Amino acid sequence: MTASIETDPATGEAHVELDSVRLAFGRRVVFRDLRCRAPRGRVTIVLGGSGSGKSTLLRLVGGLQRPDAGSVRVAGEEVTGLGERELTRVRRKIGMLFQNGALLDSISIFENVALPLREHTAKDELEIESEVHRRLASVGLDDVDELLPGELSGGMLRRAALARAIVMDPEILLCDEPFSGLDPPNVERIEALLTRLNRELGLTIIVTSHHMASSMRMGDQLVLLRDGFAVGGTPAELVAGGDPRVVEFLGSDAVAAAAGAGAGSVGS
Ligand SMILES: Nc1ncnc2c1ncn2[C@@H]1O[C@H](COP(=O)(O)OP(=O)(O)O)[C@@H](O)[C@H]1O
Ligand SMILES: [Mg+2]
Repeated sequence: MTASIETDPATGEAHVELDSVRLAFGRRVVFRDLRCRAPRGRVTIVLGGSGSGKSTLLRLVGGLQRPDAGSVRVAGEEVTGLGERELTRVRRKIGMLFQNGALLDSISIFENVALPLREHTAKDELEIESEVHRRLASVGLDDVDELLPGELSGGMLRRAALARAIVMDPEILLCDEPFSGLDPPNVERIEALLTRLNRELGLTIIVTSHHMASSMRMGDQLVLLRDGFAVGGTPAELVAGGDPRVVEFLGSDAVAAAAGAGAGSVGS
């Protein structure tokens, strides 16, 4: 595979960039000197063990958590110093799929997806209806308007949450462990949906995951979190770099998968 300037995530414009980030909760230092980036229009996968700071990284990007020091830039804007009002403006560029879906249990799927539109736009009922149905259809859900979240299967719930995360037309989509708890067919389904959103809408997507196979398949860029630092690069770069920590981290299966992806992705 030959990487051109246009397609090389390492040279593409950083849509999200963290630099020299330090963050501790009491004596628990989560990030010592975190540097990582998510290129515009690409899929970046954040990998790390439990407690390595994956969710915290997404919260930093979403402006839900401030670092103790360092810089967090989203769409060219430094968000660390922003007040609530400006943060709200930046957050409107960001869709978030939280761990475990986080739909409201007591209202219908339709109302869950409609909620951001009702809260943040002046759209009338007809526009809301058409927008909600468009988004539900785009994640393969029909005839679920009246159902409560508790009446959907795990895979359908995740897709409904995804519909809600994109209903405001974000330019950046943050997904915290979107594959967790799903069986393999549903993992593939969510993976395919995220890939399609990236290709068709040009969404910049940042996904945290334990799911190594998916990560190697769909990640243009990987960020490995370890001991408060990050090692980043394309799957092929990380594998080719031969850093023993990376190989240990990714495991031999993933290294083999990356080698395969590198050879097979031309023209895909
Ligand atoms: N609000 C918080 N208060 C105290 N500790 C926190 C808070 N959020 C996260 N942590 C700690 O930060 C570390 C990283 O957490 P997290 O980002 O949730 O990890 P991951 O998502 O990789 O499992 C953990 O040790 C966690 O206990
Ligand atoms: Mg987490």
